[in-house]
Amino acid sequence: MTCTWVTRKPLLPHHKRHVTDAMPQTERLNADETGLSRAADILRGGGLVAFPTETVYGLGADATDDTAVARIFAAKARPSFNPLIVHLPNLAAAREIAVFDANAERLADAFWPGALTLVLPLKPNAGIAPLVSAGLPTIALRVPDHPLAQALLRRAGRPIAAPSANPSGKISPTSARHVAASLAGRIEAILDGGPCPVGLESTILTTVPIPTLLRPGGLPTEAIEACLGAPLARHTPADTPNTTPNAPGQLASHYAPTAPLRLNATQPRADELFLGFGPGPGTLNLSAAGDLTEAAANLFHHLHTLDAMGQAIAVAPIPDTGLGRAINDRLRRAAAPRP
Ligand code: TXA
Ligand code: MG
Repeated sequence: MTCTWVTRKPLLPHHKRHVTDAMPQTERLNADETGLSRAADILRGGGLVAFPTETVYGLGADATDDTAVARIFAAKARPSFNPLIVHLPNLAAAREIAVFDANAERLADAFWPGALTLVLPLKPNAGIAPLVSAGLPTIALRVPDHPLAQALLRRAGRPIAAPSANPSGKISPTSARHVAASLAGRIEAILDGGPCPVGLESTILTTVPIPTLLRPGGLPTEAIEACLGAPLARHTPADTPNTTPNAPGQLASHYAPTAPLRLNATQPRADELFLGFGPGPGTLNLSAAGDLTEAAANLFHHLHTLDAMGQAIAVAPIPDTGLGRAINDRLRRAAAPRP
């Protein structure tokens, strides 16, 4: 197959890359051994690879690499950090990352691999970059049922965070061509596995505290209710004021530090810790170089670290462009009055 949207360019090893590197040229990878090993190498090196799943194409990055995860948001031009789904090859790998209750075990057993995503309590030491779950104490997990996705996950040997491989606000891609049309030049590679058989995103559920539908999707709710032997609770916008219905990750339980947060501060007061951005002082700095991708990668880490220090936090102004909009969105939520 020929393709005009690709050119080969070797990806620098992770430690040699800088987050401000120019946009990559996008390789098209075939669904064969060579393509799969190249895709796995890119993922392990901190790059972005779009890959097919049975639902839609995902935009994958190593879920344990903060910078790689931040680059997903940059490539998608997301105005906010919607939490991402982590993809795993099997239930055993998923159990290392989240706590499965009896209902979650039963659903995973019945429907994995498949078009079901489970939102479960995150194990704190699982090594997942906090940006993946947007700082939430829960994590969305899925074991995809697509031979290429399975082969890629096994080769990469890491949990892979992947939202649908489309720019923010656009429809989900169900072919490599869809991905290329919108993300070529913004990601390292696209693994071409032809059209996605389901063509609709996964159904998202949580079992905590009770089985609740967060997003309808490729797995019908009737099948889920039959498996559980009980109707699912519905997540309705009324439960979550100030959120948009199709952003179930941004529930009222969004991450907020215990300490008060003061935004757009040019310098700290005597009793405050200072989260800096760009050159200048700071207890911690989101990015001394003023790089928004680096700042996004550091955001939740630094907030957690400062919060643990038990003092009020002042935050330097962050430019409201590109990833800065998502950073400011999260900071505003974290600074908002608590119930
Ligand atoms: O089929 C799919 O689910 C595809 C393929 C690639 O797996 N992925 C996908 O991802 O549709 P995305 O990012 O477009 O949608 C993920 C949804 C978001 O609406 C997000 O809010 C929700 O999952 N989500 C992720 N983590 C969550 C969490 N901890 N709590 C609640 N919702 C969460
Ligand atoms: Mg999506």
